[in-house]
Amino acid sequence: MNQNTSQQTPIVELRDIHKSFGRVHVLRGVDMEVGRGEIVALVGDNGAGKSTLIKVITGVHKPSGGSLLINGEAVDLQSVQDARRRGIETVYQERALADQQALWRNIFAGRELTNWLGFMNIREQKREADRLLRTRMGFTSRAITVDSEVQGLSGGEKQGIAIARALHFEAELIILDEPTMGLSLKETDKVLDFARGIRDAGKSVILIDHNILHVHAVADRFVVLDRGRVAGSFRKEQLSRDQLIEMMVELHHTGQLHVA
Ligand SMILES: Nc1ncnc2c1ncn2[C@@H]1O[C@H](COP(=O)(O)OP(=O)(O)O)[C@@H](O)[C@H]1O
Ligand SMILES: [Mg+2]
Repeated sequence: MNQNTSQQTPIVELRDIHKSFGRVHVLRGVDMEVGRGEIVALVGDNGAGKSTLIKVITGVHKPSGGSLLINGEAVDLQSVQDARRRGIETVYQERALADQQALWRNIFAGRELTNWLGFMNIREQKREADRLLRTRMGFTSRAITVDSEVQGLSGGEKQGIAIARALHFEAELIILDEPTMGLSLKETDKVLDFARGIRDAGKSVILIDHNILHVHAVADRFVVLDRGRVAGSFRKEQLSRDQLIEMMVELHHTGQLHVA
């Protein structure tokens, strides 16, 4: 991350965000921001509210209180599409892709009508899909082409396509909620590389991953969520991998955050 980032308007800013489901108060006043070109890891125990928080940012849930700013503007997101139009994409594993369709169709799925129909023909779409795969996502295998069916791909490759799709549509912030779940080590490395690739392209990432080792390896900053509140925020330079692990274990056992 470059040093100017802190002076720029954050892509996303949360101010005192609350979310309740009936009487269950899940988010209890979250303040957080995501700058440009950074990977922010959201860490915390199961049930801390990580997924709920990202669902507020992606337009799935309306907050019960507080404000959400995108590029400095207070917004009241109406839907996931609304968040997308503002440059925020979530990559879900598997679900986002249609197994029995060719890879290139998956990259453009659902967007042809609004963006491309009329000025981008099939050949151009395929060419663009090929460019994204080989240059942006580092797919080098000859066995995979834009005409390959998605069902023949590995979990890591599917993640790569979903991410390529988000990049193509110029998302400014890509949210990865447990993207390495169920993947092999090698595939996990690939997905973590995708996250770095997004950052290196000047976009931002929110990463949620159970594995603290993955998180520490790629994130620039860690935001610790504990029972619906931000317990702390740390830059990678401030915290070694072991310190991060120790901190999370201690938080789990004592409910307190101590930083060495
Ligand atoms: N739609 C919902 N209705 C009721 N409770 C929910 C809903 N979504 C999440 N919760 C509750 O909110 C808490 C936080 O969940 P979640 O955000 O999924 O946590 P995390 O992703 O950190 O594991 C959990 O106790 C969960 O049961
Ligand atoms: Mg979750």
